[in-house]
Amino acid sequence: MTEDRTWMQGTDERAPSADLHPEVAHPARVYDVWLGGKDNFASDRAVAEQLATMTPHVVNAARANRAFLGRAVRTVSALGVSQFLDIGTGIPAAGNTHEVAQRADASARVAYVDNDPIVLTHARALMSGSGHGATTVTQADLRDPEAILAAPGVRDLLDFSRPVALMLVAVLHFIGGDQDPQGIVKRLLEALPGGSYLILTHGTGDTLPQDLAQRAEQSYDQAAAHLHLRPRQEVERFFGGGELLEPGLVLAPFWRPDGPLAADAERLGIYAGVARY
Ligand SMILES: C[S@@+](CC[C@H](N)C(=O)[O-])C[C@H]1O[C@@H](n2cnc3c(N)ncnc32)[C@H](O)[C@@H]1O
Repeated sequence: MTEDRTWMQGTDERAPSADLHPEVAHPARVYDVWLGGKDNFASDRAVAEQLATMTPHVVNAARANRAFLGRAVRTVSALGVSQFLDIGTGIPAAGNTHEVAQRADASARVAYVDNDPIVLTHARALMSGSGHGATTVTQADLRDPEAILAAPGVRDLLDFSRPVALMLVAVLHFIGGDQDPQGIVKRLLEALPGGSYLILTHGTGDTLPQDLAQRAEQSYDQAAAHLHLRPRQEVERFFGGGELLEPGLVLAPFWRPDGPLAADAERLGIYAGVARY
């Protein structure tokens, strides 16, 4: 079992700062549990384990989501995009966006944005080494797209006259319907020039019996952000007028797989797609 203090490894020796709220589960740290990370507290593990017990495919869904992220970044890099606005970055794990993008193109620029202080602590430590000059990390909230677009880490790094890949990977399902998630995505896309891309994944209950989907959402009730699983049609609307790249909006493992599909691939409740604008 992971110890509560192991998150400090590689950062510093201070006690967990109060703004991390270790007593309240946070989406970034719950996801970290499923990816096999060490940056989580008992509250996070309780939610992660509750969901994994209820819906055993959630761990593979998290891993399939992460693998999709890498394939999608490589795909748009190969299409000539060298700027990435990655909102809902997550705690650094294998295959971070800047690593994949800058491996494909050393001059690629990556602006990370997340609202969870633990993500910022880790990401800043990761970026502080040499050779990461084209990567920034900003603390901001997806619910305030104007603040994201105006943040120096975004505005000064990305050239909005050239195509940008907007990444909303496993983050929109933390935005409730009353917070206008469709309007938020629209506003962000409006700021991007033609030739830009949207890389998006979103949790769904389509692969689960309805009562189980509801219970899965409820397991986040005491967490810092609530979970809002959405049906395929609603997820597809996020792409607006974009042109979906082949194979369209599919469950994450089916988006241009680069290896054999897992036996439970059809049960992994996470939709994935990439669109061009
Ligand atoms: C499940 S993780 C996904 C991480 C990464 N995008 C990936 O797919 O591997 C979701 C991330 O979204 C962040 N997040 C949740 N709500 C957010 C919000 N309103 N604004 C910014 N980030 C948010 C969480 O802190 C967490 O780091």
